Amino acid sequence: MSKQIEGEILANKQLNESDYRLVLSLPELVDEIKSGQFLHVKCGPGLDPLLRRPISVHQYNQDRGEIVLLYRVFGKGTKQLAKREAGKKLDVMGPLGNGFDLTELENKILVVGGGIGFAPLMALVEKLVELNKEVMVLLGARRKEQLLCTDKLEKLSVGLKVATNDGSAGQKGYVTRLVEQELDKDKYEQVFACGPTPMLKAMQSLVNTKDIEIQVSLEERMGCGTGACLSCVCKVKVENDEGFEYRKACTDGPVFEASEVILDE
Ligand SMILES: Cc1cc2nc3c(=O)[nH]c(=O)nc-3n(C[C@H](O)[C@H](O)[C@H](O)COP(=O)(O)OP(=O)(O)OC[C@H]3O[C@@H](n4cnc5c(N)ncnc54)[C@H](O)[C@@H]3O)c2cc1C
Ligand code: FES
Repeated sequence: MSKQIEGEILANKQLNESDYRLVLSLPELVDEIKSGQFLHVKCGPGLDPLLRRPISVHQYNQDRGEIVLLYRVFGKGTKQLAKREAGKKLDVMGPLGNGFDLTELENKILVVGGGIGFAPLMALVEKLVELNKEVMVLLGARRKEQLLCTDKLEKLSVGLKVATNDGSAGQKGYVTRLVEQELDKDKYEQVFACGPTPMLKAMQSLVNTKDIEIQVSLEERMGCGTGACLSCVCKVKVENDEGFEYRKACTDGPVFEASEVILDE
């Protein structure tokens, strides 16, 4: 059951030129959270921007009653969010969306994050480690400074490989090259991914060549976040005359099977 609630900002720290880590005290909400869900955040103190912005739950700690958001500054909303100070309140709605489907987990799992797309995957990785799964994380970024969470991942019992577009850390090139190499080398039974649309499209083509299940988390533009405005619709393959039907990323997703979703540029 989602709530609209004000949480206290405990920290809002700049990590690099564009990314921030915001820690919220939300004991009333934290027990309901599943990895892959998101909060709809009122970024500024006033009415501009009017619409909330969807930000994934990056980490949560039920003992401390805390939820962490990891966000990249793009435009008006996230610029205002970056100015919110510790000690002040933040108005959020959540938890929203269905999150990752963990009902039939395999033992060997690949987690692939492109840029800020790693944000919803950290809580997932922590959950998989808690469940004693064998996890390999592949992380991509434009350059070294934008690689997120490597220090935290190195402390967990997971494998970690990184790729940067400019070669300043890890393998040079796209993270999808690392995915191909890893899938050629080892037998993975399940993949979770979040990142830019071209990366997710490349992940989709792997579904066709390997017998593998991939769940992808989509970042559609959203209005209400609760299924009322239809601004977040995406196409999902079905057997009807058109070959697809629309689903709402906010309530039916944001996580979908890569084999079923149709990604538009
Ligand atoms: C379910 C979900 C979870 C998300 N989780 C995170 C997260 O954990 N961390 C994070 O940094 N971002 C996340 N996003 C993206 C985030 O919502 C957008 O970056 C934000 O809405 C931009 O708002 P703005 O006012 O700063 O920029 P705007 O001025 O609204 O937009 C600036 C630019 O950002 C891009 N943009 C705007 N909204 C979206 C959107 N919803 N999805 C993708 N691109 C967008 C557009 O290219 C636009 O030109 C998530 C999006 C969704 C749908
Ligand atoms: S954002 Fe309004 S229906 Fe999804």
